[in-house]
Amino acid sequence: MMDHRTPTTTSGWDRKHIVLIGFMCSGKSTVGKALATLLSVPFSDIDRMVEQRVGPLVPFFNEHGEEAFRSLERQVLLEQLAAPRSVIATGGGTPCEGDNLTAMKAAGVVIWLDVPMPALMPRIVRAGGDRPLLLGLRGEALERRVTELMHARSDCYAQADIIVQAGAPVSEVASRIQQVLDFQAK
Ligand code: S3P
Repeated sequence: MMDHRTPTTTSGWDRKHIVLIGFMCSGKSTVGKALATLLSVPFSDIDRMVEQRVGPLVPFFNEHGEEAFRSLERQVLLEQLAAPRSVIATGGGTPCEGDNLTAMKAAGVVIWLDVPMPALMPRIVRAGGDRPLLLGLRGEALERRVTELMHARSDCYAQADIIVQAGAPVSEVASRIQQVLDFQAK
């Protein structure tokens, strides 16, 4: 269920950000909110912070393209990493762009919410339709796109400090993460 790496910087985890990474619909925002409540630290969501600046993501992608989004996403991420400690939900592509993952690992404990494909696909079919990178795709075309993106990203996600098998209910995933963090802080 949980793969605890031997982190290079275990000490101080209780002072670092907790950064959740993973594919679209893996539960980063919902688990992040639950975890923030359990830990009594603020919650922040990179996508929502980008939206506060430029409005909904789909029209922004359509008008300005993915590169403009990635640049804004990086700016917001770096600002948040420099702010006081929080649980940070990232976007599905955030850790895989440039040196974002290095910045996340320097300022936070990075946790991959790993949802196996058989559990992830139904979530994406149900709730992923509004994502700019999946817009308009259905059936086999959607599955193909998700598989391609996952294939391109899984090595990046796997560099997390902690990997959580996150197909379980939100409260369960959040409390398991809390247990690992408590253990690492001792
Ligand atoms: C993206 C995932 C989205 C959002 C943007 C790009 C991606 O976030 O950042 O649409 O590249 O996987 P969620 O993972 O919260 O859906």
